[in-house]
Amino acid sequence: EKGGFKHFMIKEIYETPEAVESALVGRFDEHGRPTLYELDEFNLERIKRILLVACGTSYHAGLVFKYFAEKYLDIDVLIDVASEFRYRPIRVDDETITIAISQSGETADTLESVRAVKKAGGKVIAIANVVGSTITRESDVTLFMNAGPEIGVAASKTYVNQLVVLYTLGMYMARKKGVWNEQLSSVSKELMNMPKILKYVLQNQEIERMAEYYKNYHHFMYIGRGINTATAMEGALKLKEISYINAVAYPAGELKHGPIALLDPTFPVFAIVPNDSLYEKMRSNIEESRARNARILSVATEGDEEIKRISHDVIYVPKVHEDLYPLVMAPVIQLFAYHIADKRGYDPDKPRNLAKSVTVE
Ligand code: F6R
Repeated sequence: EKGGFKHFMIKEIYETPEAVESALVGRFDEHGRPTLYELDEFNLERIKRILLVACGTSYHAGLVFKYFAEKYLDIDVLIDVASEFRYRPIRVDDETITIAISQSGETADTLESVRAVKKAGGKVIAIANVVGSTITRESDVTLFMNAGPEIGVAASKTYVNQLVVLYTLGMYMARKKGVWNEQLSSVSKELMNMPKILKYVLQNQEIERMAEYYKNYHHFMYIGRGINTATAMEGALKLKEISYINAVAYPAGELKHGPIALLDPTFPVFAIVPNDSLYEKMRSNIEESRARNARILSVATEGDEEIKRISHDVIYVPKVHEDLYPLVMAPVIQLFAYHIADKRGYDPDKPRNLAKSVTVE
């Protein structure tokens, strides 16, 4: 049932390219422009505000969407974890739509958030994987992730599929709002190519070697900026939940406001540093960290010799459009956490204290 793999989690990570293929199919026209017919009746062109609600990994996918949507759509995206969102005042109007993201479709706090929005008179788009789940039944419409079943408790391929669906939704809204442009056209082309690109990322042997080297550290500091702040947060969450190593994540610019005090040779920095518009800023954060004698493991774009020079170790990912780095970074942070957990002798499929569906509040 694990198809020759040691755990479901690693099997599911390797299913990502195929899962992405299924998330893309039927959602683009012959020119590579998104068509989400099921949303046409919601007149999303009028939307000026998006409320985004989710928990855990799904929340991190939402954060990526916030950066993407705000960049292209000229709207505000307010995002919160469901366990906070539902207890705050909920303001909805005709120009607001809510997006609820949940792999299982059963997360109690996310479900209650959906109910609260509906009660306040708002409309909800669900993004879910499990067909027939409660959140999909109570929302106005559902975009399915089409990732296939995920048995490992820690989300892996479904995180990537959430991202794919969210990028597609963002681009669909751009078309509706009449702000489709060349940049989005190249994002969309590259998104179509993602199954192939991800297959290539999954061949990287360096990640496991790095896991072997780093498996005995007790702490990690994950840093990133912009759209990859979410990558850093998701990387830290994965490591905590399956390998029980303490990992904290910060937007890199926050380091000097406190957390940099933690750094020393026993506290490595895991830096997400793709070749994007915030590259120079990340580079100086790496140098600051290095000056505190922290060991630096960077994930950078192939061909970047400068990052290799200033880091102790580098994992390379292929160059993609700068908005799409969260997709190629995802298998890297997942495999790193997986291999560390496995090498430490833990079962990544069944992390202690955790359940696949969190149906309690
Ligand atoms: C982490 C993980 C959890 C879930 C969270 C929400 O690997 O899987 O953080 O993402 O419990 O679950 P869903 O998406 O089912 O609402």
